[in-house]
Amino acid sequence: MRINGQKFHTIWFDINHPETVKIIDQQKLPFEFCIKSLHSFHDAFVAIKDMTVRGAPLIGVTAAFGMYLGLYGCTSELPADEYTNVLAREMKTARPTAVNLSYAVDLVMNALQGCDSFAEMAGKALETAMQLKQSEIDSSSAIGDFGLTLIEQVAVQKPGKPVNILTHCNAGWLACIDWGTALAPVYKAHEKGIPVHVWVDETRPRNQGSKLTAFELLNEGIAHTVITDNTGGHLMQHGLVDLVLVGSDRTTRRGDVCNKIGTYLKALAARDNGIPFYVALPTSSIDFSISDGLTEITIEERNGDEVRSIEGKDGKAQVVPDNSPVYNIGFDVTPAKLVTALITEKGIFAASEESIFRLLGSQTSV
Ligand code: MRU
Repeated sequence: MRINGQKFHTIWFDINHPETVKIIDQQKLPFEFCIKSLHSFHDAFVAIKDMTVRGAPLIGVTAAFGMYLGLYGCTSELPADEYTNVLAREMKTARPTAVNLSYAVDLVMNALQGCDSFAEMAGKALETAMQLKQSEIDSSSAIGDFGLTLIEQVAVQKPGKPVNILTHCNAGWLACIDWGTALAPVYKAHEKGIPVHVWVDETRPRNQGSKLTAFELLNEGIAHTVITDNTGGHLMQHGLVDLVLVGSDRTTRRGDVCNKIGTYLKALAARDNGIPFYVALPTSSIDFSISDGLTEITIEERNGDEVRSIEGKDGKAQVVPDNSPVYNIGFDVTPAKLVTALITEKGIFAASEESIFRLLGSQTSV
């Protein structure tokens, strides 16, 4: 995607500066566009933890580069396997919900098998991070192509009128490396000249929709309107939403979907109004080891200050009385029964164990 005409990924490595990995600082968006350098494992860990980078695929790729930074120029006296196990264990604790984090760390750890020096390990870790980065770009693009077919189906039924899509949080290129998950089909539709309009929410607790998704759509010249999180149901009741498209941080093998807090309420409203509710995700976001999303996914609890205050262009403002307790969880689970279909890089799947296992690995659709 482009910022002021220049092509950017959310994370990149320059062979001329092998001690550094660059990222876009998402804490500063949309008001400032800043590039930050990661120089160490610790820098990468903190960038994930404090959400300088965020979004499931980007968390995974950053973790892989973080493992590389931990190995580059390493002079530890610990035995190599002990040292890498410490890194891997620590990196996996940076954020608990997105499965891409442990997926990426495990990919790197597997690639390190058989290496016999830190220098060789660093080379393997870098190669793995670069490959994962490319595979996430390819997955996002393929998700866009599959999801485009769903937007096209709606578009032919309302010629000349925009397809109204509601999305929650930011599942665009900022959450990935390029294209995005939920927003990839929107970008592909726009490129093809199909009129689309996006309702943008997650206006609390972190305003990822109003800050990041709005920033992305504005940049790409795509019609959009920011709404409060409470508005979606009303829009659906009044025929103003054709489909809901969201991302996922962890999808279980039976198709339960864990995404930014508030996603579940959108799914309930969509079901009540007969509106399709699609979840777009790379297969790196599927956790095949678990089935029941409600009991088996660790939901991230974040600092209550995110609820106590709102941070905006002009600074921070407290919006809760001094002594009121707050509860701030980052994600919720939408059960498979409320999901119309999963859009992945391998095709469009019913959200069910049978469909996921039968169809994964072949290019197909529901
Ligand atoms: O807390 P965040 O900003 O990392 O949460 C991001 C989301 O919930 C996205 O929808 C999710 O990662 C899926 S998309 C790429």
